[in-house]
Amino acid sequence: MEVFEGIVALKNKLEELKKVGKTIGFVPTMGALHEGHCSLVRRSKNETDVTVVSIFVNPTQFNDKNDLKNYPRTFEKDSKMLMDLNVDYVFFPTEKEMYPEESTDVWDFGMLDKVMEGAHRPGHFNGVAIIVKKLFDIVMPHKAYFGLKDFQQLAIIKEMLCRLQYPIEIVECAIVREIDGLAMSSRNALLTVDERKHAVTISKVLFQANSDAKSLSVKDLENNVFDLINKDELLSVEYFQIVNSLSLQPINSWEEPNIKVGCVAVKIGKVRLIDNIVFSV
Ligand code: PAJ
Repeated sequence: MEVFEGIVALKNKLEELKKVGKTIGFVPTMGALHEGHCSLVRRSKNETDVTVVSIFVNPTQFNDKNDLKNYPRTFEKDSKMLMDLNVDYVFFPTEKEMYPEESTDVWDFGMLDKVMEGAHRPGHFNGVAIIVKKLFDIVMPHKAYFGLKDFQQLAIIKEMLCRLQYPIEIVECAIVREIDGLAMSSRNALLTVDERKHAVTISKVLFQANSDAKSLSVKDLENNVFDLINKDELLSVEYFQIVNSLSLQPINSWEEPNIKVGCVAVKIGKVRLIDNIVFSV
């Protein structure tokens, strides 16, 4: 495994490999790696010749300075995990390398980023789009791997790629959960022991919502999820919305076409977690 901090050296290396017909798989991350990230890496290792993982805590996607400051940074542990997974290249740039000057790019994703995370974290998806485009420009992989845990992020990246017309295939990877159901997240490491115990309520309520979906209206189910999560004294729901998986717009009835997804953001103490459930109705 080779670690690159500079853009030019990595680009040159990947250029050589592409010339001899190797396919490149890319897994962008912000580090503090867990089994969710590993599942993306394994998939890339299975489907492509060369796997590149980037680790960069991207400041432009944090709308909250404290969240950026507290975001876990565990490079030594991360690189050991990536070595065990036989990753070929790790891109670990400095902030200066990725942002030699401030980016002035402004993306408008229409209604896609006006709801849920987009509505509650102003500027977040613009920052995600800026960094993912920069990373794509450097790596220009054949396939890029993203998790369904960040459902809205995935929709926005697919839309961005559509507009850019880059020849990159986006591979959607299932949510990896802890044994008790909590969606794995780098932010879980910031929970206290007590908060961690309570965090399981989020996935429990989402799974229950999926079972109840047939018997309740969309509105009643949304209210139920709010109430059941908020009943836990440590948890506070920021939003829960049942949306059309393509447009990400709220649905009013189960009869509407396309897949329906329930997306939630919950505060536990100082930590903010997101999760989602694809309804089987
Ligand atoms: P990060 O939160 O580190 O996540 C990196 C990738 O891992 C994302 O595609 C995310 O959806 C996926 N992932 C995280 N937890 C997962 C889980 N429990 N199961 C499956 N996949 C999971 O998402 C980002 O970083 C950043 O926004 C990034 C795209 C790197 C841009 O900075």
